Amino acid sequence: MCYAIPGRVETIEDRYVTVDYFGEKKRAINELDGLKIGDYIYAQGGFVIQSLPEPEAKSILAVWKETFFELQEMDLRLSRLDTESKGVDAKTLRILDKAAEGRELKPEELYHLITLETPYERELLYKTANFLRRKYLGNSCCVHGIIEFSSFCKRNCHYCGISTNHTGLKRYRMTDDEILDAVREAVEVHGFQALVLQSGEDPEFSAPKLAELIREIKRRHHCLIFISVGEIGIDGLKELYDAGARGILLRFETSDPELYAKLHPGSLLETRLEHLRKAFEIGYLIVTGGLIGLPGQTPRDILNDILLAKELHAEMFSFGPFVPHPDTPLAGNNTPDVELILGTLAAARIADPENAKILVTTAFETVDPGAREKGLMAGANSVMLNVTPERFRECYEIYPNRAHSHEGIPEQIETTLSLLRGLGRAPTDLGV
Ligand code: 5AD
Repeated sequence: MCYAIPGRVETIEDRYVTVDYFGEKKRAINELDGLKIGDYIYAQGGFVIQSLPEPEAKSILAVWKETFFELQEMDLRLSRLDTESKGVDAKTLRILDKAAEGRELKPEELYHLITLETPYERELLYKTANFLRRKYLGNSCCVHGIIEFSSFCKRNCHYCGISTNHTGLKRYRMTDDEILDAVREAVEVHGFQALVLQSGEDPEFSAPKLAELIREIKRRHHCLIFISVGEIGIDGLKELYDAGARGILLRFETSDPELYAKLHPGSLLETRLEHLRKAFEIGYLIVTGGLIGLPGQTPRDILNDILLAKELHAEMFSFGPFVPHPDTPLAGNNTPDVELILGTLAAARIADPENAKILVTTAFETVDPGAREKGLMAGANSVMLNVTPERFRECYEIYPNRAHSHEGIPEQIETTLSLLRGLGRAPTDLGV
């Protein structure tokens, strides 16, 4: 399966190319040598990943052509804004109308949306978010893969099952060969073009070691690499970018400095934000966000989390529920309401209607098996599949009973594609 549609290069200006996809034009950054107008390429996250021979591109496009328009048609049908506004109060309608026009909402207006209580109003909120997703970003849905390569972690985050304080956990650290093999399988066998390499903060994986691994991956494969290894240090960020990483997944977890300090003993929110700001300056695509439903968190905090993610230039918003782990200090707490999770995704879409990729997280799927469909119909347009070899997954227990942890890669791909097809979405990332 292919997680991108080939496009044809129409113009080249310095590092930027315009790419045509069945008449739609997108821009991407090119880092390939010798690319020419008329070449066919795959792009991911706004980067040209590889070029492919014209006959191969044309045969893939021939298969896609009909489906491409059919899916768009279905998406259009499913994302129309229902004008029926039974049971929705005048203030809510005014705010949602303003949002549907693509106008920027004031923080207070977004707050009003996050705290809506009646089912009619919430439904209209989700529909508006879905309408905006289609209006600005079409029916593309990113499908990235994630490889969790080490569960060792030196930090002691109060919510996290792989915290260093969880001494009973059986830990693993994949060898370089195991990681390279997992990448090979994801890219060569299953067609992933964007991969997240995630681990706890494992001192064994120093920046130079990770850099060498990334360089080797880039030597062997064409794919977009996101790192998700916690706070690797500013020099580390540069080193990994130079080695070929182009994205970073690093949540700030909460925008409230006091709550952050309470949950992360010995760490400061400011240090994390500094990492995220530097990563953006270096040129990384930023994936960030927070946990929804942390003890002590208020709806106002969630609003601030969304605004902070936007301020940090998130190209992808990663917001998922807190799921209590029995062997952590937060064991006795509850998961948040599904409506609060959906409201957060929808509000994030409304806060950044034109650009954001919004992820439906595995944690959300863990608390609600219908999460993907619900999220994708409430403004989200991105999913991540777990492509870690199955034998390791059980030990990467950030929270219990993670969705899909017993599913092989082909099975996950099949269920994802069939869900996307049913919603009129294409498993593609065409860039911007
Ligand atoms: N519930 C949900 N998400 C969690 N994470 C860590 N522990 C939990 C939990 N109990 C998330 C954090 C971290 C990511 C890798 O996993 O947000 O950034």
